[in-house]
This record gives sequence, structure tokens and C-alpha cells, in this order.
Amino acid sequence: MNSHVVTISRFLIDEERRHPEATGNFTSLLHDIALAAKLIGREVNKAGLVDILGAAGDENVHGETVQKLDQFANDVIYRALDHTGLVACMASEENAGFIPIPDKFPAGDYVVIFDPLDGSSNIDVNVSIGTIFSIHRKISDGERGALEDCLQPGSRQVAAGYVLYGSSTMLVFTSGAGVHGFTLDPSIGEFLLSHPNMRMPEPPAKVYSVNEAYYRRWTTGQQRLVSHLKNEGGFGSRYIGSFVADIHRILLQGGLFMYPSDDKNPSGKLRLLYEAAPLAMVVEQAGGRASTGSMDLLDVEPVELHQRTPIYMGSRAFVDLAEAMLAEGGG
Ligand code: AHG
Ligand code: MN
Ligand code: MN
Repeated sequence: MNSHVVTISRFLIDEERRHPEATGNFTSLLHDIALAAKLIGREVNKAGLVDILGAAGDENVHGETVQKLDQFANDVIYRALDHTGLVACMASEENAGFIPIPDKFPAGDYVVIFDPLDGSSNIDVNVSIGTIFSIHRKISDGERGALEDCLQPGSRQVAAGYVLYGSSTMLVFTSGAGVHGFTLDPSIGEFLLSHPNMRMPEPPAKVYSVNEAYYRRWTTGQQRLVSHLKNEGGFGSRYIGSFVADIHRILLQGGLFMYPSDDKNPSGKLRLLYEAAPLAMVVEQAGGRASTGSMDLLDVEPVELHQRTPIYMGSRAFVDLAEAMLAEGGG
């Protein structure tokens, strides 16, 4: 038994000692997010059973309405944070507007923006899915948060990360001092440090990740880029269709993830605030790069909560190559 068991709390307390300016509030906030991850993971891991139970009608055997897991995950994260006094406001893929903290609770300095369940179309086929979170500091003058607190560029994030509900449940996050991965030990209900200081490998695996069904809708530059990768470039291809799972693989092995714009989605499909920007911070903190195809993704100034952005993310050299070829070929 490894005596040196490092939980998230222990890791963050050690981090606080290294960064005197850090307050215990961030530790407490991340602890609350980890609790939400455990609760969501428990439901995700029995999703198949719930479906069987739920298939008897709209109610399961306990007489509860079978909630969509997206909505369930959304509620779990909201309830884990709304009463803490640490959060000024939130925003979620599942809520049209920004989410204020109820007047009955004190508001705090952090802004938490999240995709409660990413890749949810994969639940029914038991493919890995995730949760993505982005943490900013409140910038508005008022006592309690406002929409402008949510519309900050990715470069202003104080922390970001994801939970991957896969063969094991992992929580991976950065607070600007490297990327650290924790694996849930269900026997004790704790996330334990399993991947300290995650760095993208050099040389990276020559693997690209994109949904090629949309090839005809791409720009000429995008078409030329993918043709180059698979022909002269000698790249392999892997695409899970869960952003968190695709990026986790690229963090560990290297590669290039693309979700390009196309003639139906001029800004692509994935959303800036709670999908692209948080994972861009993680990838860049691990030594990779994240671009819209023409600029650093973390520099995009948001104007709308659910705005979309094209994404080129992964090993630095591959993102640089993508930008160069898109610039040439009328990308
Ligand atoms: P969500 O389930 O939160 O809507 O996200 C799904 C996203 C992302 O996880 C994945 O990369 C992308 O959808 C796949 O889209 P395509 O099916 O168009 O390839
Ligand atoms: Mn998503
Ligand atoms: Mn989602």
C-alpha cells in the first residue's frame, strides 16, 4: 500500500503553502466540484440500469421521474456550489442565461462556467463522457455576480479542468501551475493524485481527431489540411465524439483535435466558454497549443454566453501546421 496517498485536498493544501497568496477558498471550491463529480459519476456508471428501470415508463421503480443525465448533472453542480458563499454567479450549457446566486445565500468571488455532461449522446452506448469547468474571478462592481463576469477571455481563467467518466473516473485540472490528474478510488470515495504535472509528450503521436463526415462542408484549406495529414503526413485517425475523451487522449499521447467551421456552422459546433476555453487552458498548461485556426483561442473576447468557436487543439507543432495551411488555402 503506497503510504504516500495524495488526495485533492492534500495536494491543494501543499499548493497553498507554495503560493502564499492562495486562499483556502479555491481549495474549498475545487473540493465542491470534486464532490459533484463523484455524484455525477455514480449516476453515469449506472446509466444503463436507470434506462432499463426508466424504460418501464417515465418513472423508475422509486416513483421518481427519470431525469436526463444532462439535467441531473446540471442540478448536482448547481447545488454543490450555490450555498458555499464562494461563487458570485455561474453559467452552464444547460441554462440560457447566466445563473445568479439566490439572495438567501452569500455570494463570493469566483465565477464557475460549466458543461455538466459533455458527449451525452454517447451515454446510451457506454462510451466515455465528461464534465468541463472553467473558473474566473468576479470583475463586476456589484455585490453579486453579473453577466459580464461570465464574458471573460480564456486567458483570464484562474483555473479550468474536466472530469472523465471512463474506465475510471478522473479529475484533471490546472490553476496555472501545471496540469494534475486525480483518479477516483471508489473504495474510499477519494480522488487520488495519479498523474502529477501532466506534459504533452515529445515527439507527439501523429494522430488527428476530426469528424470527417463533414468533409464536403469544409473550406478548401481545411480539406487540404486533412488530406495532407492522412497522405504525406502519415497520420492515423482517432475520433471518439466526446470532446473530453478526445482531448484526454491527446494530452497523454499527443495529436491534433479539430472541430472546424463549415458551411452550416460558420463558427463550428463547440462552445467557447464551457468547452473550448477551459480545455485550451489545460492543453496550453501541459505544453500544447489551442487556436481558432487563425488566433490563440484563449485570446477570444466572448460577447455571448453560448457562442461557438472553431477549435484546433493539441501538440504545438500540429496546431502551428494547421494555422499555416489554413492561411494558405483560403481556410
Ligand atoms: P455535448 O454533449 O455537451 O453537447 O457535447 C458534444 C460535443 C463534444 O463532446 C464532441 O466533441 C462533439 O459534440 C461531437 O460532435 P459531432 O457529433 O458533430 O462530431
Ligand atoms: Mn459539450
Ligand atoms: Mn453538454
